[in-house]
Amino acid sequence: MNAFDKQKAYENALSECAAVLEGEVDRIAIMATICCILRTNLPYYYWVGFYQVREGALIVGPYQGTLGCLHIDFGRGVCGTAAKEQRTILVEDVHRFPGHIACDARSQSEIVIPVKDPDGALIAVLDVDSATTASFNETDQRYLETLVKRHFADRPTDSRS
Ligand code: SME
Repeated sequence: MNAFDKQKAYENALSECAAVLEGEVDRIAIMATICCILRTNLPYYYWVGFYQVREGALIVGPYQGTLGCLHIDFGRGVCGTAAKEQRTILVEDVHRFPGHIACDARSQSEIVIPVKDPDGALIAVLDVDSATTASFNETDQRYLETLVKRHFADRPTDSRS
């Protein structure tokens, strides 16, 4: 996907999320809807989903794609590292990332974004995988960070479900 098309796809995805999720506070409903809208707009996504923070570890939440790992400890793999260090991690080639967890052998590149609530507490990570090397760049990072900020940090969500 060229840079222009990628930008257009993200603009469209973010607008759709804003429209569909207006007034929605249920955290699972928001996560599930974001996964669907991203996957529909970004054709190079192979797997997209959230891992939620539960008692100091990550547990799989809403996702689209092939079977994902259920539990990931902080500090393990790309997701656990992003959670522990609370920063976005972009991996051009997962085979070069020490400790990468291969839930699906077809995954080649990955981006993981920390998700925080309005108090700045880490509540989840957003994980996106591609079956092609080096699919993700600063454009993906910028839009995905904006998206999770808008829907989880800029307003409170209800995590009871
Ligand atoms: N590859 C990830 C694990 C999650 S899945 O691929 C869905 C990681 O290393 O954190």
